[in-house]
Amino acid sequence: NLGLNTQFLGRNLHYHDSVESTQKIAYKLAYEHAEEGTVVIAEEQTAGRGRMDRKWHSPKYSGIWMSLILRPKIPIPKAPQLTLITAVGVVQAIEEVTGLHPEIKWPNDILINGKKITGILTELQAESDRINSIIIGIGINVNTDIEDFPEEIRPIASSLAIESGKMIDREKLIRSILEKLEKLYLLYLEKGFFPIKLMWESYAISIGKQITARTITGEIKGKATGITEDGVLLIEDTAGDIHHIYSADIQVDG
Ligand code: BTN
Repeated sequence: NLGLNTQFLGRNLHYHDSVESTQKIAYKLAYEHAEEGTVVIAEEQTAGRGRMDRKWHSPKYSGIWMSLILRPKIPIPKAPQLTLITAVGVVQAIEEVTGLHPEIKWPNDILINGKKITGILTELQAESDRINSIIIGIGINVNTDIEDFPEEIRPIASSLAIESGKMIDREKLIRSILEKLEKLYLLYLEKGFFPIKLMWESYAISIGKQITARTITGEIKGKATGITEDGVLLIEDTAGDIHHIYSADIQVDG
C-alpha cells in the first residue's frame, strides 16, 4: 500500500517480485481491457526492454521498473505527447523527492550531470484509427551502485543515489511520480498540450543548442529550436532550413 493520493493512476496496482518485463505484462493487461490507470511494478526485470530494441538493465531492488496504462481519446499522431508528459512528471517527482535537478534529452531520456538516470518507452495499442491504450514504461536507476551497471554503460549511466550521495526511498518516489503524472495528464486532457510543452522545454537541455541528430537515414546538424505541438523536434541547419525529427538519438555539440 503506497498511500496514494490519486483519483485513478495506480489504484489498480500489480506488484511483482521478478518478471521478464513490466511492459510485456501491462501490454497484455491492456489487451484484456484493464482499466485506465493500471500500473505494473516489479522489483526486478530479467528481460527489461529499452528503445530501439535495446536491453534495459533492471537489477533487483535498486530501481523503479514500472509500466502504466492510459487510454486518452487522442489521434494516433499525438501519442508521442504522452512520452513528453511522462518525462515532465518524472522530472518533477525527482526534484521533489531528491532535490536534484534533472534535465530532459529529447525525446525521453532524463539526465543528471549529463548521465542517464531514466528511460521512458511508450507503446501503442490501436484498433483501426483509434488508440485503444498507451503503455508507458518508466525505468529509473534509483539506488543502483556504479558496479551494478554493465561495464559498457558505466560512462553514460548513473543513479539518483550516486548523484545525490544518499539512498532514496523508492516508495516515496513512486507515489510522487504517480501523483505528478496524474495532475499533468488531467491538465493535458483539459487544456491540451501547450502548457506541458512549455514545462518540457524549460527542462530540455537541447533547446537553443547546436546538436547532431542521428536518424536511420543519416545525420542532421543544426540548432534545436523547439518542439512542435506533436512533440516533433525542430532543427534549423546553417542554410536556415527547418528539419522535423520524429525519431533519432541526439547529441549536444560543443
Ligand atoms: C530507453 O531505452 O531509454 C527506455 C527504457 C525503458 C525501461 C522501462 S523499465 C519498465 C518498462 N519495462 C520494460 O521492459 N521497459 C520499460
